Amino acid sequence: MTDDWNDYADGWDDNSDVRRYANRAFASLDDHLNLRGKDWRSKRVLDFGCGTGLLTEKIAPYVEEVVAVDTSENMIAVLQEKQLHNVRAVHGDILAGDVPEVGNRFSGFDLICASSVCAFLPDYSGAVAVLAGLLNKGGHFVQWDWQASDDDGFGLTLNQMKAALEAARLGSLRVERIFEFKSDEQVMPVLIGAGVRNTE
Ligand SMILES: C[S@@+](CC[C@H](N)C(=O)[O-])C[C@H]1O[C@@H](n2cnc3c(N)ncnc32)[C@H](O)[C@@H]1O
Repeated sequence: MTDDWNDYADGWDDNSDVRRYANRAFASLDDHLNLRGKDWRSKRVLDFGCGTGLLTEKIAPYVEEVVAVDTSENMIAVLQEKQLHNVRAVHGDILAGDVPEVGNRFSGFDLICASSVCAFLPDYSGAVAVLAGLLNKGGHFVQWDWQASDDDGFGLTLNQMKAALEAARLGSLRVERIFEFKSDEQVMPVLIGAGVRNTE
């Protein structure tokens, strides 16, 4: 194992577990927001920590544009090779304001999603606050992360997720176990955390 995401880019899309995770995330997103409905056709989406775009490519057919951002150059290179016509793949760290597009339509999103990203961030709560600020009023934030068994375990707990979404002043919160992966002896639950930017 390495902790450099660049090392995982080649072959990421061949991993059946990550594909299954993206499928389950998209299914729950569609259930939650009716993403395949006509209301979304004119909307802009940010896929934060998009990796090779496994979730991006599922969302893109139903919306106007997906801006897909990741700090891993190699992950973004794989996504760029897919040449999805309404996807802007951006390498950079938007949390540090370190992307060339800042100031160039890098806000005003109707949906920001983060699939298996937030638990890896050094300042999860701060990140949600930054991302919430990039939403249009009434825009949605949706994340999926492995559920941690306690505050020190890998992943996020229900309480940590709820606290971060509340601290980012998101409303209409939904924080719950949404699906799980089963291996031989282990069950690995996944949480969804969703909220809406206030319209005032
Ligand atoms: C487990 S992968 C998930 C990738 C993708 N969302 C998927 O479901 O296939 C985590 C991703 O988060 C990205 N990442 C980590 N920190 C980030 C940050 N500060 N900004 C953007 N992306 C980040 C990594 O480079 C990696 O591609």
